[in-house]
Amino acid sequence: MEAPFIFGKIANENNFTDRFDEIERLITNFKSGINTTIISPRRWGKSSLVLKAAQKLEEENTTMKVCFIDVFDSRTEEQFYQSFAKEILKVTAGKLEEIGNYAKMFIGKLLPKISFSPDNMQDISLALDWQELRKDPGDILDLGEKIAKEKGIKLIICLDEFQGIADYPKSKAFQKRMRSRFQKHQNVSYCLYGSKRHMMMEIFTKQSMPFYKFGDLMFLEKISVENWIPFIQQHFENSKKKIGKSEAELIADLVECHPYYVQQLAQMSWLRTKTACKKSTVFEAHDTLMMQLSLLFQNITSDLSFTQLNFLHAMLAGETKMSSKKVLDKYQLGTSANIMKIKKALANKEILDLFANVVSFTDPIYKAWLTKYHFRIR
Ligand SMILES: Nc1ncnc2c1ncn2[C@@H]1O[C@H](COP(=O)(O)OP(=O)(O)OP(=O)(O)O)[C@@H](O)[C@H]1O
Ligand SMILES: [Mg+2]
Repeated sequence: MEAPFIFGKIANENNFTDRFDEIERLITNFKSGINTTIISPRRWGKSSLVLKAAQKLEEENTTMKVCFIDVFDSRTEEQFYQSFAKEILKVTAGKLEEIGNYAKMFIGKLLPKISFSPDNMQDISLALDWQELRKDPGDILDLGEKIAKEKGIKLIICLDEFQGIADYPKSKAFQKRMRSRFQKHQNVSYCLYGSKRHMMMEIFTKQSMPFYKFGDLMFLEKISVENWIPFIQQHFENSKKKIGKSEAELIADLVECHPYYVQQLAQMSWLRTKTACKKSTVFEAHDTLMMQLSLLFQNITSDLSFTQLNFLHAMLAGETKMSSKKVLDKYQLGTSANIMKIKKALANKEILDLFANVVSFTDPIYKAWLTKYHFRIR
């Protein structure tokens, strides 16, 4: 029998749990034309959540369409326009001719050539004229708005992995161009989401940045243990195995409710269970997971500077006053001015998450591995 948990893919249908409030909030925003930004560390469930909300919205409202673009698929502003235009055309056009018509109507001068295989909408390729586009990319950025108006629909454009924008050449100018167009749109709302919390915060909460106060800012949280327990129990039961409440709770606790790892650890525990899952099975699975990732963790660790590593050591040893003389001396962290620098560098590497004055590890398995195998803290 196939294992009943999934990780590393979009969670949907009965693999998707909780998030009722977030779905409600997203749908309300989508319907009222409010732009949304979602920020969370990696693998907490942003993509799954937005897709779920989009499916529900489209099921209930035939005049609303949602379009998804992954910012990471492009490396430059020009490549971005290419996939932006393509996805919007694909989602809004009912038939192939319509794609051609809209393209001609709204981005005609940028598009000397458009080709697609007659029976496959997925295969459209646009050949945008870069010379023209560089002069005025406004037409492309307005494409969704113009089509939505023409068709009498509302469009939601979702830009996933939005933090990737920051790596495009001349990113700030590009962000300015986007923002100045997007904010005028009446028939399109935007949902921008991504990880690397510090980068997303820089883009959306810094006054000097174009996307400052762009819309409803949502900090996605992890899924609570109360939700995970019945989820895990149900999935065991559906596949004719059993797990008790406290064992299911142990799975969620060991990975600090991190959605991806809860599913992975549940899967590994399930695979090791014949009929009923024991606590020792969960611990064994947790240890195996640490071992499987050990090489990766060794690489990450060898890239850290002496003080960065010492800082993590101090954190895991339970020190809380990092800037005190005692801790600075004991862990050779340099001056107290150094502490902020170290934290920022570790956040840049996505090892730590700095949020609302709380510093935490982004990866609970790395944290456990460092504690047990690297620093050997009891
Ligand atoms: N609502 C949910 N219910 C159950 N599992 C979930 C849920 N959301 C996320 N997960 C688990 O977490 C994994 C990662 O989810 P997803 O890809 O949506 O996160 P993400 O925040 O978009 O990740 P990334 O930062 O890598 O883009 C999923 O494969 C699934 O195992
Ligand atoms: Mg994602």
